[in-house]
Amino acid sequence: MSTKETAIIILAAGKGTRMKSALPKVLHKICGKPMINHVLDTGSSLKPSKIITVINKNMTDVGKSIEKLSKTVIQKEQNGTADAVKPALKELKNFKGNVIILYADTPLIEKDTIEEMLNTLDECDVVVLGFRPNDPAEYGRLVINNIGELERIVEYKDANPSEREIGLCNSGVIAANAETLISLIDKIDNNNAKGEYYLTDVIEIACKENKKCLHVEGIEDEVLGINNRHQLSDAEFIMQNRLRIQAMTNGATLIDPESVFFSHDTKLGKDITIEPNVFFGEKVVINDNVEIRSFSHIEDAKISSGSTIGPFARIRPGTTIGQDARIGNFVEIKKSKIEKGAKIGHLTYIGDAQVGEEANIGAGTVTCNYDGRNKYKTNIGKNAFIGSNTALVAPIKVGEGAFVGAGSTITKNIDDGALAVARNRQINKENWAASTKNKKKKQS
Ligand code: UD1
Ligand code: CA
Repeated sequence: MSTKETAIIILAAGKGTRMKSALPKVLHKICGKPMINHVLDTGSSLKPSKIITVINKNMTDVGKSIEKLSKTVIQKEQNGTADAVKPALKELKNFKGNVIILYADTPLIEKDTIEEMLNTLDECDVVVLGFRPNDPAEYGRLVINNIGELERIVEYKDANPSEREIGLCNSGVIAANAETLISLIDKIDNNNAKGEYYLTDVIEIACKENKKCLHVEGIEDEVLGINNRHQLSDAEFIMQNRLRIQAMTNGATLIDPESVFFSHDTKLGKDITIEPNVFFGEKVVINDNVEIRSFSHIEDAKISSGSTIGPFARIRPGTTIGQDARIGNFVEIKKSKIEKGAKIGHLTYIGDAQVGEEANIGAGTVTCNYDGRNKYKTNIGKNAFIGSNTALVAPIKVGEGAFVGAGSTITKNIDDGALAVARNRQINKENWAASTKNKKKKQS
C-alpha cells in the first residue's frame, strides 16, 4: 500500500434530473443508506487525511447531512467534472500527498480497488479506473498506447466510430498526486461536444508534459453509475447480493437468498436460519441460533439467541427480544422489551410494553397503548398468563404469575399471582331454542 497521505474528493454537484425526484440524487438510498454515504464510508475506510465533497448551491441539505463526515465545497455552476474538482483543489494547496476522485453517484466502488489504484500511482503520475461493461453505451473510452500506457480518454459524444469500438471504459475514478493535479487542472478547456470542462482531458495534457498515465481495470458491478431509478435498482440488486454472500460466508443459512433483503448494517450471529421473503430495515442485530421465518419484517431491533420470529411477524423499532423467545404469526411488536422465554404466538399487538420472562401471551392480545393523544406503558410480569382476546388498557401492570381470563378488557392493575376476569358473566338459558321455536309457531 502506498505510504503517502491521501485526500479524497467526491463529486456530487451534478443535478441528477434523470431521477425525477424532489430528493437530491445522492440522498437516494441503497440498502437503506444514502448513496453518498456509501462513497463516504468506503472513502473513510482508507483513512484519508481529508475528504472534500463538491456539491451545488441547492444542496445545503446534503451538506448538512454529511457535515460530520466530510468538508463540503460548492461548485457554483455545473460546468463539468474538471470544473467541479477546482473548488476542492483549493482546499489542497499545501497538500503533498495523493488525491483520489470519486463520484457520489458511483457508490459500489470497493476499498481494495482504490488501494490498487494508489499502489499503481507509486509507479506513475495519474491512474484511472477502467472497466469493460457488457454494453459500453455512452461511457468515456480509454485510449491505450502500444506499451500499455493510457494516452487519452475520449468522451462518447466526442469519439469517432473507431474510438466508439473501444470496450475499455472510464469509470470516472482518478488518482493523482495533488501537486500534479493542481498544475494540470487549469489547462483543461471546454472545447468539446458538451462545452464542458472534462476532467478526463487531464490525461492527454499530462501525456503532453511527459507524465506517465496508467489504468487499473475494475469490474462493472463496482463502477455502475446511477443516473436514473433503473440504475438505482441495479445498484440495490448488486449490493443486496454482496450482503447475502457476506451473511452466508459468516454462518447464516439463507434458504432463498434472493428473497431476503438486508440493510447495510444488519448484524448476524452464527447458525441463523432465514426463510424466504424476509426484510430487514436498519439497525437490526440478530444473535446466534435464531430462526427468522418467512414473511417477517424487522427493523431497529435486537433478537437474542435461540429465538424464533414469524412466520409473518412484524418487529418494529425499539424492540428487544430476549433469549429463546417465541414470536409467532401475525404478531406486531413495537418499542417493547420481551424477556427470555416469553411466548407471543399469534395475532397480537404489543406496543410500549415489557413482557416478563416465560410469560405467555394468548392469541389476539392487544396492548391499548394510545388514547389518541399519548402513549402509555404496559408491564406484564414474569410467568404471567394472558388469556386469548385480551385488551390491556395502558398504563397497566400485570403482576408476576398473574392470570387473565380470555376475552377480558383489563383496566386495573393485577397483583402477583392473581386472576383477573373482566367480561360479562355468561348466562345459559336451558331449552331456550325450543321455546323460541314454539313462540314463533304460535304467532304465525
Ligand atoms: C463521466 C465521465 C465519463 C465516464 C462516466 C462514468 C467526464 C467528462 N466524463 O461522464 O468519461 O465514463 O462519468 O460514469 O468526466 N459532476 C459535478 N459537477 C459537474 C458535472 C458533474 O459535480 O459540473 C459530478 C456528478 O454529480 C457526478 C459526476 O460528477 O457525480 C459525474 O458526472 P456526470 O455528468 O454523471 O458524468 P458522465 O456524463 O456520466
Ligand atoms: Ca454519470
